[in-house]
Amino acid sequence: METMRGMKRTHRCGELTVADTGKEVVLMGWVQRRRDLGALVFITLRDRSGIMQVVFNSETNPELHEKALQVRSEYVLAVRGTLALRSPEAVNPNMPTGELEVIATELRILNKSETPPFHIEEDVHASEALRLKYRYLDLRRPNLQKNLMLRHRVAKIARDYFDENGFYEIETPVLGRSTPEGARDYLVPSRVHPGKFYALPQSPQLFKQLLMVAGYDRYMQITKCFRDEDLRADRQPEFTQIDLEMSFVDVDDVIKVNEGFINRLFKELLDIDIPMPFKRLSFREAMTRYGSDKPDTRFGMELIDLSDIVVNSGFKVFSDAIANGGSVRALNAKGGGSFSRKEIDALAEVVKTYKAKGLAWIVVEEGGLRSPIAKFMSEEETNRILERTKAEKGDLLLFVADKDEIVCDSLGHLRLHLGEKLNLIDKNRYDVLWVTDFPLLEWDEEEQRWVAKHHPFTSPMDEDIEYLDTDPARVRAKAYDIIINGYEVGGGSIRIHNQELQKKMFNVIGFTDEQAKERFGFLLEAFKYGTPPHGGLAFGLDRLVMLLAKTDNIRDVIAFPKVQTAADLMTNAPDYVDDKQLEELYIKTVAKSE
Ligand code: AMO
Ligand code: AMP
Repeated sequence: METMRGMKRTHRCGELTVADTGKEVVLMGWVQRRRDLGALVFITLRDRSGIMQVVFNSETNPELHEKALQVRSEYVLAVRGTLALRSPEAVNPNMPTGELEVIATELRILNKSETPPFHIEEDVHASEALRLKYRYLDLRRPNLQKNLMLRHRVAKIARDYFDENGFYEIETPVLGRSTPEGARDYLVPSRVHPGKFYALPQSPQLFKQLLMVAGYDRYMQITKCFRDEDLRADRQPEFTQIDLEMSFVDVDDVIKVNEGFINRLFKELLDIDIPMPFKRLSFREAMTRYGSDKPDTRFGMELIDLSDIVVNSGFKVFSDAIANGGSVRALNAKGGGSFSRKEIDALAEVVKTYKAKGLAWIVVEEGGLRSPIAKFMSEEETNRILERTKAEKGDLLLFVADKDEIVCDSLGHLRLHLGEKLNLIDKNRYDVLWVTDFPLLEWDEEEQRWVAKHHPFTSPMDEDIEYLDTDPARVRAKAYDIIINGYEVGGGSIRIHNQELQKKMFNVIGFTDEQAKERFGFLLEAFKYGTPPHGGLAFGLDRLVMLLAKTDNIRDVIAFPKVQTAADLMTNAPDYVDDKQLEELYIKTVAKSE
């Protein structure tokens, strides 16, 4: 193997342009590909900026040509040569440096590589499991490098923007007490305090509120959060928040400063203008129109309430649902009339995963209606349904009858499914909106008590405080989520800063004074010493980058992500530890190592 001695890199591969032709350059990088054309050997050299073709000619430099023949994929090279324009027929228009090549005068093999388990290219065919096992090779792929550079840019813009707006970045502890976000905690045993555990933060929520008590006025932090919850395509057990908190503000102030941030992000990174102020939808409106508190508004197909029409329907499923206090709503899947029976049955399976008992349907055809339920309904009823749903020939109407939440939730998911299936979503569009006026509380069937929908420090709306005792369901929160293309990319609230109100809130959610004191005593104590009105928000950085990078897999924007089972396939974490380590921690495990 050779060294770099006496050779200093002058450029990165992708930085060279036509203006540099004629220059002597030194490039260093990995072998993307070697092509052997007899008298000529072509090597494409890759670094993080791009690729450059390097030419070795057996006639002008037989020794060097011989050496180039030893090179294999992913070898690490240093190349000296002259940058030249390719002859017109050799220009590759699909490559940013496709007009250029380096005529090599010196080649050093700085390191060899074994044949990698998969070829490193944009459209890789290897399974994700294999790529994650060899993540450092996967990370050589230009698409992932682009994503991580984008991630860097997002973090940089966040720090700049919030700095310009008077925020200080302040770090908060990772080893701490359980926080109130409501997922399961990751615990860390204490060696010094046998039997005691730290909890990794689900968010810096309590600390950022304490920073407001401490007078820092505006705080932000880009920070890791840890939640032991079921993973999905947009969730990781450890993820990153752009977290912030502000003093002396109300809902509109927090919203405004964050709109400025999102606007700047899209402007700088994608040259897209997201006009401010952003759209706002109340939680109720989002649920009734889109069946979701994070609606994808890039397409229509809104839910249509038919309850008043079918209240006395001969189709008992409908009239019974309403008699039981529920509703009947429908979607008009334009053009869905062409679906086969099998396809319609598959749609019923979609709603059933969201607890709907069935999916009734009507197809509007040339000569009339095709439907398993039309025969139970009067002509007037059917006509009113067709009118309200604006049904036309070729349309498929889909109905769910049930409790309101089940109807909205199941049709909301069906709507998304149909949006994809019928290709209604413009993937180049970004729809940004706020969902506001969330209910403060929700009823927990299992625990038979009210629980905070956001967290117990979220402030009720001033005009709803009076209903806290009498009608908790009616109380709305000063909480807001920011939604982009159907993803919740951030959320926050104005907090309770009044001790009496906080006490009341704890009472409503069934915490005794003792329990509140035990869990959040330090915070309640702090609130006694002059707490300013305050509120804030946290963005999911990973989700933001995911959207900006136009991928729907959160792992594509995280350097070393975890899989569905919360495992890291490269390092094999989590893993068993030595008995000695457990002993020191006073821990006995029930699970046995294999
Ligand atoms: P919340 O729990 O809504 O609020 O989290 C804020 C944002 O973080 C992102 N997020 C996640 N991203 C990836 N994987 C996960 N498992 C995950 N969980 C959440 C989402 C979400 O909108 N302390 C409050 C904020 C506040 O009130 O100021 C909080 O953590 O994009
Ligand atoms: P059944 O009377 O159970 O055979 O159902 C007749 C049709 O109504 C089938 O297409 C069912 O999928 C549908 N259906 C049953 N329950 C519901 C419901 N709760 N909401 C909407 N459609 C339903």
